[in-house]
Amino acid sequence: MSDRAGARLSERGGFEKASVRDAEIDGRRVLLRADLNVPLEDTAEGRVVGDDTRIRAALPTIELLREGGAAVVLVSHLGRPQGRDPQFSMRPVAERLAELTGAPVTLAPGVIGEPVSELARGLGPGEILVLENSRFEPGETENDPELAAALAGLGDVYVDDAFGAAHRAHASTEGVARLLPAYAGLLLEREVRELTAVRDHPARPLCVVLGGAKVSDKIGVIDRFLEGADSILIGGAMCFSFFSSQGIAVGDSLVEEEGVALAGHVLARAQAADCELLLPIDLVLGRSFDAETEVRELEGVEVPDAWMGLDLGQRTVAAYERVIGDAGTVFWNGPMGAFELEPFAAGTRAVAEAVAAAPAFTVVGGGDSVAALSAFGLADRVDWLSTGGGASLELMEGRGLPGVEALRDA
Ligand code: 3PG
Repeated sequence: MSDRAGARLSERGGFEKASVRDAEIDGRRVLLRADLNVPLEDTAEGRVVGDDTRIRAALPTIELLREGGAAVVLVSHLGRPQGRDPQFSMRPVAERLAELTGAPVTLAPGVIGEPVSELARGLGPGEILVLENSRFEPGETENDPELAAALAGLGDVYVDDAFGAAHRAHASTEGVARLLPAYAGLLLEREVRELTAVRDHPARPLCVVLGGAKVSDKIGVIDRFLEGADSILIGGAMCFSFFSSQGIAVGDSLVEEEGVALAGHVLARAQAADCELLLPIDLVLGRSFDAETEVRELEGVEVPDAWMGLDLGQRTVAAYERVIGDAGTVFWNGPMGAFELEPFAAGTRAVAEAVAAAPAFTVVGGGDSVAALSAFGLADRVDWLSTGGGASLELMEGRGLPGVEALRDA
C-alpha cells in the first residue's frame, strides 16, 4: 500500500466501532477472529500455505495484542469443508504463522471442547493458540448460539479482524461478538474505512471495473454504482450474459443463465443513468479453456460457433485504459479474462498495469484480481488491496456487514 493511502486515511473518519487499540488486553485472553482462509498447496514437504497475504495482513493486530500482554486464541475458517475433513486443517496456517511471528504457536485439537479450553487456560502472555477450522463445527455457519457461547468461553475479550468474513453471520463472527466485549481489529477497521471512503466520497470521476464469470455476484454493486459511479467497465465471462441478453451470438462462451435476465435489467437501467456502462467491443477467442488451444482475435463481439471468448481484445483494452487513466478513483473487482492461461492473460494484465499506473486513488478487491495483481508483480502499486472478496462487494453495495455491526460501538 502506498503512503498516499495512509495520508488519505487521516482525512477520513466514519468508523464507529470500538477499536482494539482501546481494549483492555494486558494479562487477558483475547479471542481473535481473523480471515486466514488462504490457498493451500500440496508439496513434497506436505500441505503448505500457497499465498500468505491474509496471514500477513492479520499480523499487525496479532503483534499489537502480544505486545500489549495478551494471550491470543486465534480462530478462522478455512475453505468450505464438509465436516471434519483433515484436508482443511489449520495446521499449515499455524505453521506459517509461527514462522512469521517467531511466537510460540500451538494448534488446538479442535474448535471447542475441554482439551481446547485447557490449552486456552494455560496460554501465557504473547503465546498463540490456533483453533482448528471453525467450519469443522456445523454450528459455525448456522450461527449456533451454543457454539458461540463455547467460543466466548475461550476468551475475556473478542477482537474481530476478519474483514473477509464480515459478510457472514456465523458463530465466530456475529454470534460470539454479542457475548464478549467486542472490538474491531486494525485490518478490519482499515478495510471498512478505505472502502467506505471510495463508496461514499470518491474523487471524481469514479471508475468501477468489474470482471469474473457471474453477473449475479456483481449485480448488487452494478445496481449501486449505476447511480454513484461515472463509468462501469465490464470484463470477464460475465460480458457474455450481457451479449446474450441483447441477442448477440456467444458461441461456446461461458454464460451464466441466471445472469442473462439480470444483465438485461442492468442495460435497461443504464440507458437512463448518468453512468457510462462499457462492454467489450472486441475479443480474444479460444477453441477451449486450455493454454494449448487454438487462439484468434475477433473484431467485434459476435462469437462464432465452436469458439469461446476468453479475453478482451486490443481495442477494448485501449478504451478501458483511457477511462482508468482519466479517473480520480478506481475500484476493481474480478479478472478481465482467463488470465491463468497465458494466451488469455493480456486483457487482465493491461487493466492491472493501467490501474497500477493510474494517478487515481486505486482499490482492488476479490481473490482473483488480487491474485492477478500479485502474479504481474503489481500488488504494491495500488493504494488499497482489500483482503475481502464478497465482503468488499457487499460493503460497496451499501449492505451492512453482520461481523462489523455486532461489534461494540465506539
Ligand atoms: C473469502 O475468501 O471470501 C472469505 O474467507 C469468505 O469465505 P466463504 O465465501 O467461504 O464464506
